[in-house]
Amino acid sequence: MDRIAITGGIRLEGVIPISGAKNSAIKLMVASLLTDETLTLTNMPRLADTRFLARLLQRLGVIVEEREGPAGAETVLTTPEILSTIAPYELVRQMRASFNVLGPLVARTGQAKVSLPGGCAIGARPVDLHLMALESLGARIDLHEGYVYAQAPRGLKGAEITFPSVSVGATEHALLTAVLARGETVIMNAAREPEIVDLAECLTKMGAKIEGAGTPTVRIVGVARLGGTEHAVTPDRIETGTYALAAAMAGGEVRLTRTRSDFVEALLQKMEEAGVEVERLNDGLTVRRDGERLSAVEIETDPYPGFATDLQAQFMALMTLADGESVIRETIFENRFMHAPELTRLGAEIAVSGGEARVRGVERLEGAPVMATDLRASVSLVIAALAARGETVVDRVYHLDRGFERLEEKLSACGARVRRIRDGGPSEEG
Ligand code: EPZ
Repeated sequence: MDRIAITGGIRLEGVIPISGAKNSAIKLMVASLLTDETLTLTNMPRLADTRFLARLLQRLGVIVEEREGPAGAETVLTTPEILSTIAPYELVRQMRASFNVLGPLVARTGQAKVSLPGGCAIGARPVDLHLMALESLGARIDLHEGYVYAQAPRGLKGAEITFPSVSVGATEHALLTAVLARGETVIMNAAREPEIVDLAECLTKMGAKIEGAGTPTVRIVGVARLGGTEHAVTPDRIETGTYALAAAMAGGEVRLTRTRSDFVEALLQKMEEAGVEVERLNDGLTVRRDGERLSAVEIETDPYPGFATDLQAQFMALMTLADGESVIRETIFENRFMHAPELTRLGAEIAVSGGEARVRGVERLEGAPVMATDLRASVSLVIAALAARGETVVDRVYHLDRGFERLEEKLSACGARVRRIRDGGPSEEG
């Protein structure tokens, strides 16, 4: 398994272009199941997760072509016909978002058999809200031997879906299914993440009728068929926030381009409160910090536009060196503090109790071998390592490769000393 070695204590100076959003790209790729015409996605991130999903989609009948376009990577998806309506456990377990093929398969063919994803490192992550949405739309759902069997032989019908709690995945799944259902669907208590707006925009270009995406109430009028289109994946707000925090941690001045500062406004306000200088620009933002010690601030994760759970681990890394005690409350996932014991190995003082972590800022961190447990946890270790004395080696880098495109290259371009140690092979400077 590859590892990443980081030598800390170097200020970052430079420009980092932000990639297309992983969590948008994978839902947009699923939309290709809804039409026999070609969907071309531009500004595509090249990640392990997009490769996993491409493999599943190919099994279902999607022809996937990856190519370089004038503005970067593109993925071209065409589904002349659905060849299989089965998404097996090996593929769904590798990436939970694969579960979202269920609704589109039923919408297009009237049936599907998709594995339940199972739990994961950050929490139980049930899919009851997804199934509730599909049942409301008229699908008959049966569970057998770890699989969901869904059927709607006479087609799906629009319905009112009121989610008891906010779910990004279930909102997207309902959207991806209702666009081809007969009549009107109203989704209430919908998630408002930018990735949902992006999906709705792409579906609208494909011919869907959707209003209110980005608000708690989304209205969809089903259409008989959708067509192809070209769509640019929205910028990755979690990558944006992660590099903003990396710059704040290491000190220096970094400009993030090809992104939107409003996507990470909740984070930027907390960074400013801690003493980081942030300049919001038309195509991104600049983060500056001189040698001054930051102040501890409190955060609580919430659905968008609140503080993103996917930035909680990285913010905790920043707080390990702040002056005072920071209280971090995680309200979205029940087990999302796996990074705390690893940060402690670098010298951080963190006490976790239930959904709350208290971080008492220390004067300095020291490099050590640490282990990545999930995608965002592993990048929090990279951020801490940028400010730690000496060398930190992060093991199980495959977690990072799922969601951060060319991480070593992007950080090295700003002066960081980051190298990848290939399993059994020589190390490579980023
Ligand atoms: C998406 O997961 C993201 N993943 C996650 O990012 C992100 O952390 C999360 O949204 C919250 O922002 C993708 O987009 C692929 P949810 P999702 O449904 O859709 C509970 C990353 O690192 N719930 O909004 O699975 C659930 O257990 C990943 O990129 C149910 O109870 O999140 C959680 O407690 C990690 N029943 C809460 O809702 C359901 O049927 C919110 O989850 C569905 C969810």
